[in-house]
Amino acid sequence: MKALEVGELRKRYGNFEALRGVNLEIEEGEIFALLGPNGAGKTTLIRIIAEGLKYDSGEIRVFGEPLTKKTSRLIGYVPQESIAYDLLTVEENLRFYADIYDAPRDRIKELMEFFSLPRRKRAKELSGGYKHRLNLAIALLYEPKILILDEPTVGLDVPSRREVWELIEHFRSDGKTVLLATHYMEEAEALADRVAIINEGKIIALGTPAELKGLIGNESIIQVEGILKGIERLKGRFKIIDKEGRVRIHVKNAREALPTVVHALVEAGSEIKAITVEEPTLEDVFMKLTGRGLE
Ligand SMILES: Nc1ncnc2c1ncn2[C@@H]1O[C@H](COP(=O)(O)OP(=O)(O)OP(=O)(O)O)[C@@H](O)[C@H]1O
Ligand SMILES: [Mg+2]
Repeated sequence: MKALEVGELRKRYGNFEALRGVNLEIEEGEIFALLGPNGAGKTTLIRIIAEGLKYDSGEIRVFGEPLTKKTSRLIGYVPQESIAYDLLTVEENLRFYADIYDAPRDRIKELMEFFSLPRRKRAKELSGGYKHRLNLAIALLYEPKILILDEPTVGLDVPSRREVWELIEHFRSDGKTVLLATHYMEEAEALADRVAIINEGKIIALGTPAELKGLIGNESIIQVEGILKGIERLKGRFKIIDKEGRVRIHVKNAREALPTVVHALVEAGSEIKAITVEEPTLEDVFMKLTGRGLE
C-alpha cells in the first residue's frame, strides 16, 4: 500500500517556481527522506502535504485517497520551527493542541510519560531536545499513520539528535510511515530506507542510500584534511566538496590522481594532516549530480 503519492506537483511563489513537477511514492512502513540544500523546496513540499498550503497543479494521495481535510488527519506534522507556546506549560500546550485537533485528552498523559516530559515546565524552559520531544508529542496527539518531520534535528546536539532518530525509528517499528526533510546527509543515511535528492524544486535522484551511492560509479573520493591552500586550482579539474579544513575530491583513478592533488596543494603552501581514499557519501552523490555540496 502506498502511504503517500505525489504526482507532477507544481508550486509558484509569485514568479518563482519553487516546485517544478515533483513525483514521489512512499510505501506504508517506510522511512523516506527528502535530502537537499537550503532553498531546494523541501519545506514547500511538506507544507503542501501537511499544512494544506495551496499548490498550482499536480496530485496528492494519502493511502489512495485524495488529500482533503479528512485524509490529512492521518498525517502528524512536526514543522521546522517549534509550535509550542513558550509561556504555556508542557501539559497546557498538549491540552491546547488536543482541543484544536479534537484529539482525545487521555493521550496527553501517555505522551508525557512516553517522552518523559516535565508537565509543569513552561515550554520556554525546556532544552532544545525536550522542546523537540514536546513538538513530537503534539504531532502524535491523534495517532497519525504518517509522521512528517521538517529538519527534525537542526540545532540539536549529538545526543539529542540520536534520541530523535531513535524516536523516529520507534514510530516506524509500529508500522507507521515517516517522511522527513533534511539537509544532513548523515541523517538521511542513518535513518532512511529510501532517499529523494531534491534540488531547485525537482527530484534529481531517488533510491536506497546504496542505490544512490551506486551513481558515483567507479569514481573514488580522495579526502584531504589540513590547512589547505590551492583548492581553487584543483576545482578546474575535479569535482570538489570544500569544507573548513577538509576537501573531498572526485577522481576517476585515485592512484593516478593522488600525486597531482598532493603536488598542487603542497605547492600552494598547504599543511596536509591526512589523506584518505573514502567511500562515497550521499553528499558526494549530490555533488556528482549538481556540481556543488549540500550546505
Ligand atoms: N512564502 C514564500 N514566498 C516566496 N518565496 C518563498 C516562500 N517560501 C519559500 N520560498 C522560496 O522557495 C524556495 C524553496 O523554499 P523552501 O523553504 O521550500 O526550501 P527548503 O528546501 O525547505 O530550504 P531550507 O533547507 O532552507 O529549509 C526558496 O527559494 C525560498 O526562498
Ligand atoms: Mg526548509
